[in-house]
Amino acid sequence: MALSLVPVIAGSLRVLEIAGGPPILPANPRIDAVPAPVVVHIIAAAFYAPFGALQFSARLRRRQPHWHRRSGRLLVGAGMLVASSGLWMTLFYTGAPGGALLWAVRLLVATAMAASIVLGVAAVRRRDIAAHRTWMIRAYALAVAAGTQVFTQGIGEGLFGTSQLSTAVSVSSGWVINAAIAEWVIRRPATRRTRRVRTPSAPVASR
Ligand code: HEM
Repeated sequence: MALSLVPVIAGSLRVLEIAGGPPILPANPRIDAVPAPVVVHIIAAAFYAPFGALQFSARLRRRQPHWHRRSGRLLVGAGMLVASSGLWMTLFYTGAPGGALLWAVRLLVATAMAASIVLGVAAVRRRDIAAHRTWMIRAYALAVAAGTQVFTQGIGEGLFGTSQLSTAVSVSSGWVINAAIAEWVIRRPATRRTRRVRTPSAPVASR
């Protein structure tokens, strides 16, 4: 939730600008020319990022199983909108910073995020909860890399300037870091996760 705060706030300001508010953010000619996809992208991400995080709370799932199911259905839609609008902008917004390298990475990430959501839904429909968890972690990690990129792009461009290569590598690093953390979380031994949940200092979890 904390990670996605900056892009969600920046996105809300962008939507305000598009709605006729005062110009606050640096101009983006692609958004000025065709604003609809970025509006969809930002509104869907503003729902997916905070509420998606809650889906991973074991305590909430135990206490409110209906909440997980109902919000999960909405989040699948929101996640698909984030990925498909990201894909649309990659394909049709021309001249975005980062050149061909970032274009290719975005194509891969948006497709991987959408595919992970589809596989996560397919897994839960066949009651394969382990696979469902795995694919939903992957999709969420790719989405909230927008927050990691605030750091990687800030540091990368601060150190190496704003060339196409530096932008491509620093933005892509955000996705690489989040994907690596997701794979680590997925592969963490289950016993360690269970032990943490069952600790006596967490009385709700032991019900
Ligand atoms: C929680 C997740 C995400 C958030 C909060 C987010 C946020 C944003 C925001 C605020 C913008 C507008 C930037 C501006 O005002 O100039 C944007 C643009 C964009 N986003 Fe995302 N994003 C997310 C996930 C993704 C994903 C997964 C992709 C997949 C590739 C993606 C691809 C793009 C693209 C291609 C643009 C347009 C870039 C340009 O041409 O300037 N985003 N995003």
